[in-house]
Amino acid sequence: MDLRPLHPDFGAELLGVSLADVATPGALGEAAYALVRAAFEAHSVLLFRGQEITDELQVAFSRRFGTLEVAKVASLGEGTPFSILTNVDPATGRLVPPDHKEALRAKANQLWHTDSSFKQHPALASVLSARIIPPTGGETQFASQRAAWHRLPEATKARLFDACVWHDYAHSRGQIAPHLASDRERAAMPAACWRIRWRNPANDHDSLYLASHAYQVEGMDEADSKALLAELIAHITDPAHVYTHEWQAGDVVMWDNRATMHRGRPWPASDHARLMKRTTISATEDDGLAGVRPPASARAAATAA
Ligand code: OGA
Ligand code: MN
Repeated sequence: MDLRPLHPDFGAELLGVSLADVATPGALGEAAYALVRAAFEAHSVLLFRGQEITDELQVAFSRRFGTLEVAKVASLGEGTPFSILTNVDPATGRLVPPDHKEALRAKANQLWHTDSSFKQHPALASVLSARIIPPTGGETQFASQRAAWHRLPEATKARLFDACVWHDYAHSRGQIAPHLASDRERAAMPAACWRIRWRNPANDHDSLYLASHAYQVEGMDEADSKALLAELIAHITDPAHVYTHEWQAGDVVMWDNRATMHRGRPWPASDHARLMKRTTISATEDDGLAGVRPPASARAAATAA
């Protein structure tokens, strides 16, 4: 296996190892998995090119890393291991109009975020395969929350060391349209509170765990909290620290949701189809989950709210 860096801060294209190698049953697959897992812990974003992707292969590859999330309520793919991002209406096969729910969802995906920070159980990793790529636009951008933590002044690190932040799916969706998160989604996904610092037990690197879903620093004045979150997200996603992935047929990109943020980029969606399929792997205690859980005082605030 060889590595080609994607950005000076983070990211690597993996050469000489495929999704199929990792998905192979038995010791061969285990050995390929160990190599890819080590690269994942070190580099946070992994690119595999030229993959002959199928749903079965994507699931078998992803399963090596842990338990798969089931796509959330009211999403395309609900109840399956796939979150489907597309502007193609599955019922008609036509492109959706700009006011369609899936078009608004695509806009919400264009806000910087990490997947599933709003869930009661956050995600370790996401695996995204390009199934239909538009001829222009539709890139995916990544920024390292780990590199961003390391770039913070020491005084800011000290101030944030034990801070906790509330995340809510309805908050990120509300930035696009007030009712984009339905009552059903709101009821199924109450806000979640996490520490702002996620330490990776594999290498002891801290990362600044934030997303467009983040709306309130626990215990902080609302206006100050809003300003701080905006400032930190701008710090993480400073353009010099962003990797832009231009999709090619056969690409699969995997990222660490503990250590990176990402966003989709627009494309001429009324003229061209785009279809992406994502599998998402749940974080476990081995992935540092215990360290990101808030103290009892923050949980009490949740019960009171
Ligand atoms: C995702 C996501 C962005 C894109 O799959 O989680 O945010 O470019 N995708 O499709
Ligand atoms: Mn996402």
